[in-house]
Formats: sequence, C-alpha cells, structure tokens
Amino acid sequence: MPTATAAAQIHAPALLAEGISKAFMSGDQRTQVLDGLTLSLDAGELTLISGPSGCGKSTLLAILSGLQKVDSGRVQALGSELGQLDLRALERFRLQHTGFVFQGFNLFPALSAFEQVELPLNHMGLSRNEARRRAQQSLEEVGLAHRMRLRPSELSGGEKQRVAIARALAKEPELLFADEPTSALDAANGQMIIDILHRIARTHGTTVLCVSHDPRLVVHADRVLAMEDGRILSDRRPAAPAASDQEIPS
Ligand SMILES: Nc1ncnc2c1ncn2[C@@H]1O[C@H](COP(=O)(O)OP(=O)(O)O)[C@@H](O)[C@H]1O
Ligand SMILES: [Mg+2]
Repeated sequence: MPTATAAAQIHAPALLAEGISKAFMSGDQRTQVLDGLTLSLDAGELTLISGPSGCGKSTLLAILSGLQKVDSGRVQALGSELGQLDLRALERFRLQHTGFVFQGFNLFPALSAFEQVELPLNHMGLSRNEARRRAQQSLEEVGLAHRMRLRPSELSGGEKQRVAIARALAKEPELLFADEPTSALDAANGQMIIDILHRIARTHGTTVLCVSHDPRLVVHADRVLAMEDGRILSDRRPAAPAASDQEIPS
C-alpha cells in the first residue's frame, strides 16, 4: 500500500458502513432487513449491538465481515472498500484481518483446545513454531493454559467459548466479531466472556463488535447501538465503568 494512502487512513474509522441496505426474497415475499444503515466504529473499543430477534444483527455482522454483499451502500473496513474486492480478496481479507466468535462455539469435537486454536494459524501460512507460540499465548490470555489438552466434551460452556475466543484472537485480527457469544452461558460465564472481549479491545487495539440482547452486558461495553427497522436507532456510551477488572481464573 502506498505510504500516502496509509497516512490518509490513520484517522479513518476501522469499520465504516454508509447507507447499507439488504433484502432477502423468500418466494415472492421480500424482507427488507437493513434499510440505509450507517455506522462507524473506532479501533480499541467494544461495541455492543442489541435489537430484537430477526432484526438483522447477524446479517449486519456477515456484511461488515465481508461474508455477504450489500444491495446498496458501502462498507469500508481497515481502509478497503469491501464492495471492490473479488471473492478471493475477500476470503484473504477475512482470513488475515477478521476473527469470529459464535453463540454455539463451533469447535471440532475431535480436537483439543490447543489444536482448535492452532488449526487456522496453519491455514494463514504461519510457521509451525509461530502457530504454536500464538496458540499457547492466546489460550493463556483467556485463562485456559491448564486446559489446552482437553477436548470440547471435557470443557464447560464458558471454557468452550474461551477456546473459541482464543482461536479468533490468535489470528491477531484487527476486527473481531461476536454473534451472541453469551447466549448459551449462565450470567457469570457471560460476564467473563464480555470482560475478555473488552480486554482484547483495550490491550490489542482490536475493533470488537458484539451482538447481544443480554441487558446485563450493556454496562461492560464502551458503546451500545440499538438496532430496529433495519437501522441504528440509538447510539450511546454507558456511564458505568466499562470493565470489572476481575481476574480470569487459571
Ligand atoms: N440467507 C437468508 N435468506 C433469507 N432470509 C434471510 C437470510 N438470512 C436472514 N434472513 C432473514 O433476515 C431477517 C434477519 O435475520 P438475522 O440477520 O439473522 O437477524 P438477527 O440476527 O437479528 O436475529 C430474518 O427475517 C431472517 O429470516
Ligand atoms: Mg442472529
């Protein structure tokens, strides 16, 4: 990338969506999911998106991470216009710059925690040693160094989600997306997960976008966007301290 372009992008938001619209057809029924939605996210923050089921939160994450195309509007991520990238470039963008955490953890039953984290790093073309180093470090960061030889069936729900976070974190992505990461967890584990995501944003400068309708998590976010009718209805910064600096047990 030319230096002048890089310099011009220093103050650009990490993620920018302008007037994005998306509709789905099912038979002759057309559902307008996103309707001219605009948002801008800065690096180093945890932003929470809340909104009723079916309002388009997962679709928004898929679009912002380059997995789905918009009907109109534009998405700029880390200075790249996603709409101008071909499929291969989009795939590379997602592999190199984004991490994803899902409600259902999406872990391979046969792999140990360590292997789950190491696997995508090999796909990224990192050396074996570097992949191992990062896997170890990420699992330590989520407090699972002592559990990394275990398989998902031997881990609790909260631990499984921490493995999934370590897997995303080990890629060292600038953009981290989490789709209802606490929905399958009890309150204590849910809070731990959101604390970890918040810490990642602060310590790594990662842009973290988390979808959740769990009202208990709101005070842990830097910023809360409420989504309704395909748009952002409100945009606020909770006044309460954003992070409880509670220790992650190890
Ligand atoms: N691939 C698709 N094909 C058709 N309809 C879809 C598709 N993906 C999502 N939808 C519809 O779009 C709406 C929003 O879905 P979604 O983004 O999953 O909402 P949320 O994550 O907020 O629950 C829903 O009505 C859903 O049925
Ligand atoms: Mg969803």
